[in-house]
Amino acid sequence: MMQNNITSRVIETKLIPWRELKFIQQDDFKEWINNGDKRLLESIKKYQFIDPFKVWHNEGVNYCLDGKHRYKDLELAVQNGLDVPEMLPATFVECSDIKEAAELVLVYSSAYAKITQQGLYDFVQNYNIDFPDVSGLINIPEFDDIEFQGLLNKMDTTTVKEEIIPTSLKEVFIMPPFSVLDSRQGDWQKRKRIWTEIIKSQETREEVELIAKSGQSSAIYELRNKMRDNLGREPDWDEIIAYAKKKGMHVYEGASIFDPVLCELLYRWFCYENGVVLDPFAGGSVRGIIADVLGNTYHGIDIREDQVKANERQALELNLNKVFWHTGDSNQVLDDLNLEPVDFVFSCPPYADLEKYSDDPADLSNMDYEQFKDVYYSIIKKSVAKLKEERFACFVVGDVRDKKGFYYNFVSDTIEAFKQAGMELYNEIILINVAGSLAIRAKRQFNNGRKVGKMHQNVLVFYKGDPKKIKENYPELNLDYDLEELNNQPNIAL
Ligand SMILES: C[S@@+](CC[C@H](N)C(=O)[O-])C[C@H]1O[C@@H](n2cnc3c(N)ncnc32)[C@H](O)[C@@H]1O
Repeated sequence: MMQNNITSRVIETKLIPWRELKFIQQDDFKEWINNGDKRLLESIKKYQFIDPFKVWHNEGVNYCLDGKHRYKDLELAVQNGLDVPEMLPATFVECSDIKEAAELVLVYSSAYAKITQQGLYDFVQNYNIDFPDVSGLINIPEFDDIEFQGLLNKMDTTTVKEEIIPTSLKEVFIMPPFSVLDSRQGDWQKRKRIWTEIIKSQETREEVELIAKSGQSSAIYELRNKMRDNLGREPDWDEIIAYAKKKGMHVYEGASIFDPVLCELLYRWFCYENGVVLDPFAGGSVRGIIADVLGNTYHGIDIREDQVKANERQALELNLNKVFWHTGDSNQVLDDLNLEPVDFVFSCPPYADLEKYSDDPADLSNMDYEQFKDVYYSIIKKSVAKLKEERFACFVVGDVRDKKGFYYNFVSDTIEAFKQAGMELYNEIILINVAGSLAIRAKRQFNNGRKVGKMHQNVLVFYKGDPKKIKENYPELNLDYDLEELNNQPNIAL
């Protein structure tokens, strides 16, 4: 009789001598489909025994309610000389009589819900399952293999990514491998606009707000506090920026967005397709999105939860599934994060206290330089510990002046931090920035104290291991075209 409530009929799971199982159904009750016996055997060999038999125990006999094919395949495995344990797990289910047990044999053999092709496709994609590999080992009769393969081909991640990358970005892009990169060049700017369109098109209003506040000087933060006191409410960032500009203060506009062209270039030069990237100061979404679009897996850590959420939204919109952000202080998260050794450490850390990112005391941009250095060294050490041997790390940095106007020597400190962590400096590239508002500020800075306007950043590339082995892990890149082009580029200092 049908009951109104649900109770468990599972008694226990324990080891049984599986060879003594008895079967209720006749031998030809189910037949193998498409070499199913061989596939199940292969599956058992690959995944081992992972699914207990379902058993009804009656008068000293264990009747198998589910697992006949597993049983047959284990027999086959034994015949093939494989070592199979005498005792294997079985889950005992209560039955009132043999008729009820027979009903359960049917229930276990039938499926109430069909796996939809789209559902299966999404599942395979989400968990990055190698479908052609696994499909040989499993049997899902509800879907048509050929049709599903078609779907998989039609929508595989490269196709999704092809849709993201406009044709204009598809030609192989490589800048000449020299120690100066000039981001002012037309080609660079053109490519940057395209990348920025891809990335920005996903931005919500809140994200624009987030960018505005994510990299302003301490002076702007102080202004925010004053405005809050005067207005008696939290001023929004549009108001703060507008007021700061009116007062002639320096406002970073878009400064927090990592240059996507530089990012693309560094992935192509110092990582390789399918590499896993670790970024201990993730900031915005650029390094994550580009990593995934180029075929890598990315793990970024950032202390700001709202930034991480915004990044995740963008990745979701773009259908990217190999990019992961972790919220928290990297000094802590790196202790807790369980990652296989990675292929590339790549980041753009806070440049001491140049930009302030949040009010969190564990945010490096809130620390005095000595304290900053301690935590910074520790985060670098923990990141390098997660890098495979014979791999690169790259930090994009820029020196910053202290209150008196002297440089902190932040670039050298970064080099020292990597050295202490076990990596040597391998390349230093100077990235020339677009001058922007520097042209206006430079005159005042120079006349007030003979400070030259800094319009570059330092791209530091480190190597862990024996440089002789680089060739083994990093493919040759075709650079011919660019070397010819180079002759026509007066901006590049050779
Ligand atoms: C220079 S920014 C990132 C560079 C650039 N703004 C970008 O989008 O690529 C540095 C990032 O480090 C984060 N940060 C600061 N202290 C941190 C810490 N202890 N752990 C993790 N992230 C931290 C900040 O929130 C900020 O987003």
